[in-house]
Amino acid sequence: GRVESVNPMQGLMERMTGTPWRNMLVQKGFAEVKEEDLTPLFAYLEFCLKQIVADNELGGLMGALEGKYILPGPGGDPIRNPEVLPTGKNMHALDPQSIPTSAAVDCAKVVVDRLLERLFQDSGGKYPESIAFTLWGTDNIKTYGESLAQVLQLVGVRPIPDSLGRVNKLELIPLEELGRPRIDVVVSCSGVFRDLFINQMNLLDRGVKMAAEADEPSEMNFVRKHALEQAKELGVSLRDAATRVFSNAAGSYSANVGLAIENGGWEGEQQLQEQFISRKGFAFNADRPGMMESATEIFKSSLARVDCTFQNLDSSEISLTDVSHYFDSDPTKVVSGLRKDGKKPLSMIADTTTANAQVRSLSETVRLDARTKLLNPKFYEGMLNSGYEGAREITKRLRNTMGWSATAGEVDNFIYEDANSVFIQDEEMRKRLLETNPNAFRDMITTFLEANGRGYWSTSEENLDRLRELYQDVEDRIEGVV
Ligand code: BEZ
Ligand code: MG
Repeated sequence: GRVESVNPMQGLMERMTGTPWRNMLVQKGFAEVKEEDLTPLFAYLEFCLKQIVADNELGGLMGALEGKYILPGPGGDPIRNPEVLPTGKNMHALDPQSIPTSAAVDCAKVVVDRLLERLFQDSGGKYPESIAFTLWGTDNIKTYGESLAQVLQLVGVRPIPDSLGRVNKLELIPLEELGRPRIDVVVSCSGVFRDLFINQMNLLDRGVKMAAEADEPSEMNFVRKHALEQAKELGVSLRDAATRVFSNAAGSYSANVGLAIENGGWEGEQQLQEQFISRKGFAFNADRPGMMESATEIFKSSLARVDCTFQNLDSSEISLTDVSHYFDSDPTKVVSGLRKDGKKPLSMIADTTTANAQVRSLSETVRLDARTKLLNPKFYEGMLNSGYEGAREITKRLRNTMGWSATAGEVDNFIYEDANSVFIQDEEMRKRLLETNPNAFRDMITTFLEANGRGYWSTSEENLDRLRELYQDVEDRIEGVV
């Protein structure tokens, strides 16, 4: 054929006749992008930009103080829903009857599929029979019920909204459609969830009971399999044996495991586990609604069958070691204490902070948290530069990391070892910590010694001697002896 000499720029220039963003994309090699596809996307991005830069916090506050009308609007995570911005509105949560939304149900299915795929792989081609689940109120507000929908998806039940979008009805997903066994669950609701979402606890309890009562073979329905065993063991009806939705007693919040770890005055892990069971072992029962019943026996018997513990991270603002509440809700060692074989369950965390949800093991997630925060110079330098409270923040993070050792045993030794290198071995750093916040520094030294004393960190005698000496020095300094 005939070869024509062409100016390669000529074709490009001809195609670059659109909007600036289209021209940029063409230049970068995306020649096929269509203006009509880009227009709505960029209109939306422009809207998001306006939302982000709008600033009505003080305006709203002043208006409220002057007794003016304040425009209401939803609260939540600005990444998931830019409509929550700008702040300074008369913020409301959501209609509790409207969750899970159908979008949340779709997202939940992706996470459950990934979770089960990972568990299937990690346990040599077997599905877990039961998963212990944590539900938080605020998370379900921000995600419109994603984690709640995950529970329904595991047991194989579909929520059916009415014409107003209220979710009160459920239907069993047929096993052929589900394509796997129904997975049993143990749902620990936070006290906040219980206060906000009593209707959804009802929905979950009905969903579990529906699965338990389905006339299906045990090997395809672990909810039924376990409930049948438990009914016999505990001498209760199948329906009552299918009790899986738990929380604190009315008016009570949290397992207080976080509090124990913060204070340090706990004897042994057994004590933490008993505390978890006694505080979180109150059941919701759709057949006797309106109260939380003390249900320790069924709680323990259900936890004893758990193969995996699981929580969601729904927002990049708060992660596993930012606050004590995540390990406070974690029953990993509680489960090993109750299982007949004493085996530790697998422990998984879903990261749904981005559109592409990830499921990681708990130890991977703790590592990721340590690498990005506690051990990351950008993080701790920023904290130290912010002064007194920043130093406390670093110490608190180390202590929250130790919380995961206590409840799950999923903290690698190197995390403590590296933290010791960064904050204790480096003389310059010691000085800064001592000067910025001597009390926080003393607590940090205590935490290192406690982590070693409780068997969570093994290290050299040299490191331990240094910590003990330092403790004395800091103590003297705080008490004004030197
Ligand atoms: C919740 O939203 O359920 C929650 C909030 C703070 C701490 C623990 C749980
Ligand atoms: Mg709570």
